[in-house]
Amino acid sequence: MCGIVGAIAARPVAGILLEGLRRLEYRGYDSAGMAVLDQGQISRLRRIGKVQALADACEQQPLAGHLGIAHTRWATHGKPSEQNAHPHMSGERLAVVHNGIIENFEPLKRDLQQQGYTFTSETDTEVVAHLLDQELQHGLTLVEALRQTMTQLEGAFALGVIHADLPEQLLTARKGSPLVIGVGIGENFIASDQLALLPVTDRFMFLEDGDIAVLEADQIRVLDAQGQAVERAVTTFEHGQASAEKGEFRHFMLKEIYEQPRVMQAVLEGRVASGHLLEQAFGSEASAIFDQVKQVQIVACGTSYHAGMVAKYWIEELVGIPCMVEVASEFRYRPVVLPEGTLLLTLSQSGETADSLAALREVKDRVLATLAICNVPGSSLVRESDISLMTNAGPEIGVASTKAFTSQLVALMLTTIALGRRHGLGRDKEAELIAALEQLPVLLQQLLALDGPIEAMSAHFAEKHHALFLGRNVLYPVAMEGALKLKEISYIHAEAYPAGELKHGPLALVDKDMPVIAVAPRNGMLDKLKANLQEVRARGGELFVFAGCEESIQPEEGVHVIHLPAMPQVLDPIAFTLPLQLLSYHVAVLKGTDVDQPRNLAKSVTVE
Ligand code: M6R
Repeated sequence: MCGIVGAIAARPVAGILLEGLRRLEYRGYDSAGMAVLDQGQISRLRRIGKVQALADACEQQPLAGHLGIAHTRWATHGKPSEQNAHPHMSGERLAVVHNGIIENFEPLKRDLQQQGYTFTSETDTEVVAHLLDQELQHGLTLVEALRQTMTQLEGAFALGVIHADLPEQLLTARKGSPLVIGVGIGENFIASDQLALLPVTDRFMFLEDGDIAVLEADQIRVLDAQGQAVERAVTTFEHGQASAEKGEFRHFMLKEIYEQPRVMQAVLEGRVASGHLLEQAFGSEASAIFDQVKQVQIVACGTSYHAGMVAKYWIEELVGIPCMVEVASEFRYRPVVLPEGTLLLTLSQSGETADSLAALREVKDRVLATLAICNVPGSSLVRESDISLMTNAGPEIGVASTKAFTSQLVALMLTTIALGRRHGLGRDKEAELIAALEQLPVLLQQLLALDGPIEAMSAHFAEKHHALFLGRNVLYPVAMEGALKLKEISYIHAEAYPAGELKHGPLALVDKDMPVIAVAPRNGMLDKLKANLQEVRARGGELFVFAGCEESIQPEEGVHVIHLPAMPQVLDPIAFTLPLQLLSYHVAVLKGTDVDQPRNLAKSVTVE
C-alpha cells in the first residue's frame, strides 16, 4: 500500500514531509525515507521501521531544502530493509517514491540490467527510476520521460519524482493508486491521502487515472493520459482536522469506537426526515435506478465484506429480492453470472481497495448500475460508480475498522429501505425502521457504558491462543467481524461459525482453553443458539455471551454474560458489534500489541 508525500515550498519541507508520513503510517510502516533537494544536490535518508526512526535520523542529520519527496512502506517486493526503503534513485540526481505495484517489473528490470543499470534494491519501484533516467538519456524532458515511462508500466502506481536539475518542479502521476494534490498558497503538495496534508492545506485536487501533474510553488499544470493540458477541480476538505487527532484517547481505535454515537447521527443526517428516507441522498439518478433493480450483487473486502453479509439478510428479508455477496479478490477473477437488473453494490471504507476497485471495473459495463457505499468522498470507488452514499464517519485512522463498519450498516439499511419501497415495504414499516435507526446514537452511548465490564472480561483472554465466535442469522456476520477484530489486533487466532455449524466439525476444538464468544440477541433464533451453547458447556468450553435477553441467559460457572439494553431487533447487528470491538481492544491492550498499527497490516489495501 505505502504512503507517499511530496512538497515544493518557499520554506524548508522536511518537517512537512515527516508530519505527512506520520499521518500516512496507517498505509504501511515497514520503513520510511525522504529525499530533499538542497543546493543542487539530492540528500536521501532512509530508515527501517516506523516514521519515528526516520524522524530521529533527521534530528541527527537535518535535511534542508524546499523540494522533497517521502515514503512510508508496506513491503511487497523485497523484505523491509533500508535498501528496499524509498525513495529510490537512478544515479545521484533523480529520486522516485511509488505506491502500488509494477506487475511487469521483472522483464523491465532484466532489460535495464542488460543496458548496464545496477539495481540496489529488490523493489519493483527501482525500475521506474531507471526507466526515467533512460528516457532522459534519450533527450526527453522529465515530463516526456515520465509519460514514456508510464506507457511501459503495467499495474498500479502513484509516483512522486524530483530531479536535481529541476529545483522548481515536483512531478507526480497516477494510474490505479490514490493520489491527491494539496493546493497551498505559494506552495503545493502531493500525498496518498488528504489527511497527510491537513496541517498545510484544506484544498485538494484529485487526479484522474493516467494524469501527470507538474507542481511548482505557485502553479500546478495537469496533463491527461493523452498529454493534453486539463483543469482538475479543487475541493475543500469536509471533515474537521480534529478527527485526525487522538485527543484524550490512548489509541485511535478507542477514539473511533467512542465516536460511534456521533457517527450514527452523521450518517442519518440529511438522509431521513419525518420517518422517511430521502432517496435523493443517493444522487439524482438513484430513483430511476432503484426502480429497475431485480437483484443485488455486493462486493467488498474484510470488514466491509462482513457489512455486505449483514445486508444480504436484510435485503432478502425486507425487500424479497436475491442478494449475493462475495469477497472482491475472488469475484474479480471468476466468470461471474450477473442476471439482468443487477445492482452492483461495492462497500469500502477507503474507496481505494485495489480488489474492490478492480471488481467494479471488471463488471460495471455488465450490470444495471453501480452503487458505492464509502467513507471517502472523491475516492476512486465513488468517482467510478454511477451513484454513491457516503457513510460520513470521518477519517478512520486505526487499522482495525470500527466506526466505518457500523456506519456502513446504517447506509445499507437505508439502501434496503430504498429498494424495499419498490417491493412492497410499506410506509409504516419504513417509518418503523427509520425510527429504530434514530435511536442508535442513544443506544450506542448506553453500550459504551459497558466498557468497564468488557474490560474486566478481557482478562480471561490475555493468555489464550485461540477463540471461537458464534452467531446465528444476521448475527453470524457480526461474529465474523468480532473474530476478525480480535485476530488482527491481538494476534489471537479467532474464527467465527454460524452456531448451527458447530457440531459439524469445530466442536472438536472445544476444551477449557478455547474461549467461545457468542452474540445472543433476543430473536427467533435465541433458543436454538442456547442449545448450541449447551453443546459447548458440555465439552468444558468457557462461554462469553453478549445477551439481549436478561431472563433467558444468566451467568453461571463457566458462563460469563454481559446483558445489552433492550433495542429494536433491526439494530442488533449494529449494537452487538460495539461490545465485540471493545473486547478486542482491551485484549490487545492487555497483550501489549500495537493496537492502531498491528503487524503486517495497513489501513488502505491499494495492492491486490
Ligand atoms: O477500505 P476498505 O473498507 O475497502 O478495506 C477493506 C479491508 O481491507 C478492511 O475492512 C480490513 O479488513 C480492516 N482492517 C479490518 O479491520
